[in-house]
Amino acid sequence: MRRPFVAANWKMNGDLASNANLAQAFAAGIDTSKVDAAVFAPHVYLSALSEQLKGSKISVGAQTANTAASGAFTGETSLSMIKEVGCTHVLTGHSERRVMNGETDEVVAEKTATALEAGITPVFCIGETLEERESGNMEAVVARQINAVIDRVGVEAFANIIVAYEPVWAIGTGVTASAEQAQEAHAFIRQLFAQKNADVAEKLIILYGGSMKAANAKELIGQPDIDGGLVGGASMIAEEFVAICAAAV
Ligand code: G3P
Repeated sequence: MRRPFVAANWKMNGDLASNANLAQAFAAGIDTSKVDAAVFAPHVYLSALSEQLKGSKISVGAQTANTAASGAFTGETSLSMIKEVGCTHVLTGHSERRVMNGETDEVVAEKTATALEAGITPVFCIGETLEERESGNMEAVVARQINAVIDRVGVEAFANIIVAYEPVWAIGTGVTASAEQAQEAHAFIRQLFAQKNADVAEKLIILYGGSMKAANAKELIGQPDIDGGLVGGASMIAEEFVAICAAAV
């Protein structure tokens, strides 16, 4: 039986005061005895957020990290730096970074590998664009993205990786994948792993991301191969995110 996992991805949003209010509401409202929760915040807020969530079991994560240990990488942040300020998780392969920062499958695989080496849990994001889905290429795209990481780290490493399926066409659009569409993609993802290692596949946490709200969370997470959510917009509203976590139980 897989424990549900629900994560907030605040993206480039928030400020010290509103973040503190959200952290307090999450710590007070989320029953972490029944659901694992995490918050992915901008780098500048990670230290304060770790402090605010210290008394809770809610994890703190970074939205990206450089693969280098240190050096002449102006503006970048290393894995040791995010670990030092309390991060236990890091996003890799988010579609917004694949598009805006040119993060290829190979870059994503390297970021995922170095996070594992640093003892940080990657939340490895995959998903197809609307054009790819409409042309019937969802499975090919998702398989390509997954295999790039398996080739780099091996399938057994996925015992320490969380996968997030985020159909790009559902991110930030309010157009949520139907429970059937999401389950179909998650089942495909799980069987990809099952072909290589049945135990890893059975235990793999696969999150859904893409306009998840309190109103649709129960139906989505109630699907057999959906183990939780990676939530953007709704995670900036305390009541919404707390309700999504409750729906995951
Ligand atoms: O990483 C989660 C994010 O991409 C989903 O965003 O606003 O559609 O929940 P949103």
